[in-house]
Amino acid sequence: MAKNRVLTGITTTGTPHLGNFVGAIRPAIAESQSTEQDSFFFLADYHALIKCQDPAAVHQSAREIAATWLALGLDTDRSTFYRQSDVPEITELMWVLTCVSGKGLMNRAHAYKAAVQDNEEKGEDADFGVTMGLFCYPVLMAADILMFNAQRVPVGRDQIQHLEMARDIAQRFNHIYGETFVLPEAVVDDDVAVLSGLDGRKMSKSYGNTIPLFLPEKQLKKHINKIKTNLLEPGEPKDPDTSTVFQIWQAFATPEQTAEMRKEFEAGIAWGEAKKQLFELINGQISEARQRYNEILEDGAFLDAELAKGAEKARAEAASQLDKVRKAVGLSRFG
Ligand code: TRP
Repeated sequence: MAKNRVLTGITTTGTPHLGNFVGAIRPAIAESQSTEQDSFFFLADYHALIKCQDPAAVHQSAREIAATWLALGLDTDRSTFYRQSDVPEITELMWVLTCVSGKGLMNRAHAYKAAVQDNEEKGEDADFGVTMGLFCYPVLMAADILMFNAQRVPVGRDQIQHLEMARDIAQRFNHIYGETFVLPEAVVDDDVAVLSGLDGRKMSKSYGNTIPLFLPEKQLKKHINKIKTNLLEPGEPKDPDTSTVFQIWQAFATPEQTAEMRKEFEAGIAWGEAKKQLFELINGQISEARQRYNEILEDGAFLDAELAKGAEKARAEAASQLDKVRKAVGLSRFG
C-alpha cells in the first residue's frame, strides 16, 4: 500500500474563488509536488447533485473546477485527478457501506440536522425537502475515501464530522468482515488562511461575498474595490489586523511585503491605494494561470482526456479494492 496517500474531493457547485485558492487549491497542489505523497483529487459531482438540481450549473462548475486545477499546474501524472462519476466502483461500494452504516449515526450528521431544525422552525414536517441524497451524504463520502485507502484527508473544519463517520463505518465493516479498510484521518490546516470576503465575513459562495479566482482583470479590480473598509481618510493610521484588504494581502504576499504593508497601514495609506496594490499583487500572481485557464476552459477535449487518464488510474485501484470487498461480504464468483 502507498506510504502516504492523501485524498480530497471538491464538490462541483459554484466557481472557484480566492478563498478556495488560498485555503485548499494552492496548498493541495504544492503538497502534491512532494515525492513522498500519493495524491488523489477528485470532482465530487455526485455530491453536487445533493445541493444543486440545475444540470447546466453542475456541468459548468465541474468544467471550471477542473480547468482551475489544471491551469494552476496540477501534475496529473504524479497525482490522480478524476471525476467521481467516472469511477462507478465508488457508488457500488457506497451501497455495501450503506448496509453497515447505522441510521442513528446518519441522524447525527450536521447538514441533515440543520435541515430538520430549519423545517421545525418553519413549522414544516421535519423531513420536508430532505432527500435520501442529503441523508446518505456521509456514506458516499466514506466510499470516496475508503475506496482508495486514503490515510490523510485535507478538509475544512465543517467536514471533520464526516471524516469521523467514515472512520466509524470503516471500523464497523472491519469488525464484521475482517480488516479491509484503512482508517482515514482528517487533516485540518490551521496555518492556512481562511479568507474574508467582500463584506468581511468568511469568503463563501453561500454568503455571496466571493471574489472569483479567474475574473477578467477589470472585473478583478472592480471586485477588490468593493471590499468593505471603514471611513478613515488618507493619512489616518489604519488597523491592519481588522482589515480584509490587509488579510487578503497577507495571503498572497511574502513576509517582507506583509511587513511593508503593515507599515503603510500605520502610516495611513489611502484605501484606494491599498486596494490598487492588492489588485496588482494578486493579478501578478495569477495572470499566467488565468490565461491558461481561459484556454483550457474552451478545450473540452483536453479536459476530457485529462479526466479519462485520472479515471483509468483510479479505476484500476478501485476495481481491486471492490473485489476484496465483494469477497469479504460473500459476493464473489462461484467458479
Ligand atoms: N464533502 C466535501 C465538501 O463539501 C467534498 C467531498 C466529497 C470530500 N467527498 C470527499 C472531501 C472525500 C474529502 C474526501 O467539502
